[in-house]
Amino acid sequence: MILAIPDVLTAAQVVEARRQLEAAEWVDGRVTAGHQGARVKDNQQLPEGSPAAQQVGRTILQALAGNPLFMSAALPLHVLPPYFNRYSGGQTFGTHVDGSIRTMPDGRRIRTDLSCTLFFANPDEYDGGELIIEDTYGSKSVRLPAGHMILYPSTSLHQVTPATRGPRLCSFFWLQSMIRADSQRVLLFDMDVAIQRLGAENPGHPSLVALTGVYHNLLRQWAEM
Ligand code: NI
Repeated sequence: MILAIPDVLTAAQVVEARRQLEAAEWVDGRVTAGHQGARVKDNQQLPEGSPAAQQVGRTILQALAGNPLFMSAALPLHVLPPYFNRYSGGQTFGTHVDGSIRTMPDGRRIRTDLSCTLFFANPDEYDGGELIIEDTYGSKSVRLPAGHMILYPSTSLHQVTPATRGPRLCSFFWLQSMIRADSQRVLLFDMDVAIQRLGAENPGHPSLVALTGVYHNLLRQWAEM
């Protein structure tokens, strides 16, 4: 499932984050690319441990922890600290797949189930720089307003097309979900959305408790921690 999550950050949070990101020291993005990725990657990144990356990263993770749509769709177990990238002057990241295993700052290794890209520039501030994700049903081109985020399976091949005018400024990171399989995670998300809708339209409907029970029993059966 590819899902856009609107307004992860408020307009004020985006302005403050951009102020910090624009003042930071950027480096060649190939430093964190794997063997295959380094051949197709041409962008800039904030170094790991950069104070701006840490501070804006905390803001993002706090916002996501309080975002019901994100929590329902991702069912996160471990979220890696956010990275930041910048594309301009035709910079691009050709078709690649994200590494399946990554290391948390405390040394624990996690499986990347979902990839996240959060936008800090509005689509009218840059040209190109589309995130193109290959999904089961074809490819999807993504350019979202500042403060919005796209969530997509880490199994997808994806690319960033050349940003001919920029900068295109984003955060990207990965998470391990309590639900490994995308198909099961989608079922739980669809069910949760339907239960929420039923609850809003028919509060007190007797089936709400039963359906909520089924939701939790499926989660109990499938969750890995
Ligand atoms: Ni990638």
